[in-house]
Amino acid sequence: MNIAANPIVEANQTIYLKDYQKPSYVVDSIHLDIQVYDDHTDVSSKLVMKRQTDGDLVLLGRDLELKSIKINGKKLTESEYKLDSEQLVIRNAPEQAIVETVVLIHPETNTQLEGLYLAGSDLFVTQNEPEGFRKITFYPDRPDVLSVFTTRVEADKKYPVLLANGNLIEAGESGEDRHYTIWQDPTKKPAYLFACVIGDLAVLKDRYTTSEGRDVALEIYAEEKDIPKCHIAMEALKHSMRWDEEHYGRAYDLDNYMIVATSQFNMGAMENKGLNIFNTSCVLADEEYTTDAAIMRVQSVIAHEYFHNWTGNRITCRDWFQLCLKEGLTVFRDQSFSEDLQSAAVQRIDDVAVLKAHQFPEDAGPLSHPPRPDHFVEINNFYTATVYEKGAEINRMMSTLLGKEKFRKGTDEYFRRHDGQAVTVEDWVAALTAGSGVDLSAFLIWYNQPGTPKLEAKGEYDASTQIYRLTFKQTLKAHPKYSNLKPVPIPVALALFNAQTGAQYTLKSDRLFENGVKDGVYLFDQAEASIEFTGITEKPIASLLRNFSAPVNLEFNYSDPELAFLLQYETNGFNQWQATQTLLERILLDGHDAQIYVDAIQQTLPNVIEKDPLLASRLFDVPTESYLGSRIDQDYNPLIVHEAREALLNQLAKVLGSFTKDTYLSLDPDSQHEFSQAMGVRALKNIMLSLMARQGDSEVFDLAYAQYENSMNMSERLGALKVLVWNDAPQAQAALQDFYTHFKDEDLSLDQWFMIQAAHPKATAETIQYLTTHVDYDLGTPNRIRSVSGGLNANPVNTWSFGVQHFVDLAKYLDEKNPIVGSRLLQVLTRWYTLAEPQRSEVKASLEALKSQVKSKNVSETLNSMLSI
Ligand code: BES
Ligand code: ZN
Repeated sequence: MNIAANPIVEANQTIYLKDYQKPSYVVDSIHLDIQVYDDHTDVSSKLVMKRQTDGDLVLLGRDLELKSIKINGKKLTESEYKLDSEQLVIRNAPEQAIVETVVLIHPETNTQLEGLYLAGSDLFVTQNEPEGFRKITFYPDRPDVLSVFTTRVEADKKYPVLLANGNLIEAGESGEDRHYTIWQDPTKKPAYLFACVIGDLAVLKDRYTTSEGRDVALEIYAEEKDIPKCHIAMEALKHSMRWDEEHYGRAYDLDNYMIVATSQFNMGAMENKGLNIFNTSCVLADEEYTTDAAIMRVQSVIAHEYFHNWTGNRITCRDWFQLCLKEGLTVFRDQSFSEDLQSAAVQRIDDVAVLKAHQFPEDAGPLSHPPRPDHFVEINNFYTATVYEKGAEINRMMSTLLGKEKFRKGTDEYFRRHDGQAVTVEDWVAALTAGSGVDLSAFLIWYNQPGTPKLEAKGEYDASTQIYRLTFKQTLKAHPKYSNLKPVPIPVALALFNAQTGAQYTLKSDRLFENGVKDGVYLFDQAEASIEFTGITEKPIASLLRNFSAPVNLEFNYSDPELAFLLQYETNGFNQWQATQTLLERILLDGHDAQIYVDAIQQTLPNVIEKDPLLASRLFDVPTESYLGSRIDQDYNPLIVHEAREALLNQLAKVLGSFTKDTYLSLDPDSQHEFSQAMGVRALKNIMLSLMARQGDSEVFDLAYAQYENSMNMSERLGALKVLVWNDAPQAQAALQDFYTHFKDEDLSLDQWFMIQAAHPKATAETIQYLTTHVDYDLGTPNRIRSVSGGLNANPVNTWSFGVQHFVDLAKYLDEKNPIVGSRLLQVLTRWYTLAEPQRSEVKASLEALKSQVKSKNVSETLNSMLSI
C-alpha cells in the first residue's frame, strides 16, 4: 500500500500563466485496463513516453493507491521515484520510457463526481475535465499532452453496457460473471477528453451521413423509461452535425457518436471524444415532463458539446488559462445555432440577459477576472460566466466586425493551421487575422483585461449642415490585481431613425466598417472618438449597440419618450427589448413614471404578438429583483427593491386591466404550428395569468387550476402551478399534492416541484427545512440541491436573510463531499459587500466564520476572494 498523506502546505498554491513550460515527456500511446468491482476498481496503464525537453518524468495522480510501477519492463522500488499526494516523479528517466502502473481506486465511494464515480445504483461514469483523469491513473494530466487511447473495460455482467471513446474493437467474456470490451480512439486527445461508462442502460439509435460521406452510428443511452424523452436530443444532434458542416465546413470524424445521460453530474454536459456524458437535465426533453425553456436548453447543450468536437477536441487548449478559447468560441457557436432554431431576437435577448445578470456582476465584484486569467489556485473555479459568456461575446464582436464571409475565412484558417494541436488565444486571433485579412490583434486586450467597460455616448445634431455627430468615450474601473488597463475595440452597431416618420436613415459616413451587411458598424477603439453622419434631414433618434454588439455598459441620455419610440419603431428585436428594460429600470430604480411604458407596450403589442409571440412575451420582462440588486453597489436593501418591483407589477396589472384576461382567453398554443411560436403563446398566457392574479380577481385561480389540470404540457402546468402556489390560492396544496403524486418518479419534473416551493416569495427557513428534509431531497444529487437553492435564491430578500445560513451550511457540507458544487453555490453570496448595514456585517461575519471550517482549494479560494474586498 502506497498512498500519500493529505496535502496541507502545497494545497493553496497559485499557478501563473507566465510559468507555462512544455511537458518534458510526450505520450505516444496509452493502454488502459479498467476492472470494476463492487468495492474497488483496478486500473492498469501502459504509457509509451518519449522525452521532449529536459526535466523529470512527472506523472500526476490523486487519491490513487499505487500497487506497482515499472519502467521499460523493470519494477521500480520506492527509492527510485518520489511520490506525494499530487504527483509521482522519476528522476533521470530514459529518453524512451514505457511506464506501467497498477493502481486501485474507489469509484463506489467517490462523492465529488470527478474522475470515475458511481452515479446512482447501477452506473459508473467519468468526468475528467479539467483534472479528473489523475484520479483514475498516474498520467501527465495536462491538455497539451495528446495521445492515442486504447481502453479495456471489464465488469460484472449486471452491467451490460461497457463504453469508452472511439471504435469498439473487441468484446468478450472474462470468466463466468464478467465481460469486457476494448475500444480504440484513433484521434490523439488530451486526457481530459477520456471517458468510460459501465452500467445498465437502454439506448436510442439513429444514423447520420456526413457531408464527406461517413456513415455515423448515433446512440443516446439512458434509463429505459427515459428513452422516449431522447428524441428531441437526437434530432438536435443531427441538426447540429448538419449546421457545423454548413456554417463552418466541419464534418464529424468518427464512425460513432454516443451520449450517456446521468442524473448525477456536477455540470450540464461534457464533450468527451465520441462519448459525451450529459446531465439528464440537458438531454431529456419532453413537453409532458420538461418545460419549453428546458427543451431549448437541451438543444443548445447538445449542439454545444457536439461543436466542441472541432473547437476543443480536434483543436484543444495549450493550458487551462486558455479555457475561453474552447468555451467562449463554442458558446458563441451554440448561440448562433440556437438563433436559427427559434426567434433570433429572443435567443439574443436571453443570452444577453444571462450575461448581464451573471457576468456583469461577477466582473464588477471581488471575483472579477479576465476571460483569460493569468493566475488561479483551483481551475474548477474558473468555469465562470466571464470565461464562457464574455468569452463568447469577444468572438461575436470579431464576427460582427468581419461579417459572415470574412469570419468564415478566418475560422477556415484556424482549422487549417491548428488541427491536432493544443493552442492559445493568440493563435486563434492570429489565424482569424490571417484568414480574414483584417487585423484583429487589438481584441487580445479583451481577453486579458477584467471589468465591463463603460461606454458613454453623446449625440449632437446640426440642422444647418444636416450632420449628426456621435461622440464616444470609454472607461474601465481600476482593478486591484490587473493594472495598466487599455481601451478596447468596441464594435458599435447602430441605426438612426427619423423621429417623425419612424423610418430608418441610410447611413452615410466614411468611418463605418465595411462588413458586407446593411447595418452600420462603427469600430470605436480609442479612449474617445466621434463619428459623423451626413444627409440627416431631421434630428434623429439613434439606436446604439444593436443586437448588443459589445459587452459594455452603455450610457446614452435617451429621454423616456425616445425609448418608447424605439420600442415601437426599432426593427432590431433586441434593441426593442432593451428599450423596455431601460424604461423599466428607470421606473424601478429612479422613480420615473410608468405610464409611458404601459402606453407604448399596449400600442406595440398586438403587432408583435402577430409576428413573434415569443418576443411579445419578452417585452413584459420586468428585471428580476436579483438583477436590480446587482445594479446597486452600496447600501443595497433587498426589501426596498422587492417592494418597488411589486408595486410596479401591481400597477402594470391595474393599468392593463381587462387586456390581460382578453389576451389570456384569445391565445391558443395548440393552434400554433411551430414550436417557437407555441412556446411564445404559452409564455404570454402564463404572464397574463400572473398579472390577472395581481388584479385580485378570484376567478383567476379557477382558470389557473383548469389550466393546471387540463394541460399535458409542462410549461402550461408549471405556469399555472406557480400562480396558485405563489399566491397561496385555495387550490394550491391540492395542486402541489397532485403534481407530486403524478411526477414523483420523474426527477426532472420533481426538481420543479421543489423549486416552486423554495421560490415562494414568502418562503421561510421552515419552508426550506421542510424541503431539505423531504424523503426525495438528496445532498448527493446536485440537480436536487440546485432546485431548492436556486428556488430560494429567486427571492433576494430570502437569500439575504435566512438564505445566508442555508448557503453557508451547504458550502461547509459540500467542502468535503463535493467541493466543485460547494464552491459554486457559495458564490451566490458574492455581493454581500453591497448590502446596507447591519446586514452587511452580519453576512460578512458568517463568511469569516466559515473560513476556518473549510479545507478544499475550491471553497477556500472562492471564500478568500469573496472576502478580499
Ligand atoms: N466542457 C464543459 C463541461 C465542463 C465544465 C466539465 C467544467 C468540467 C468542468 C462543457 O462543454 C460545457 O461547457 N458545459 C456547460 C454547458 C454549455 C451549454 C455551456 C455546462 O456544463 O454548464
Ligand atoms: Zn463547453
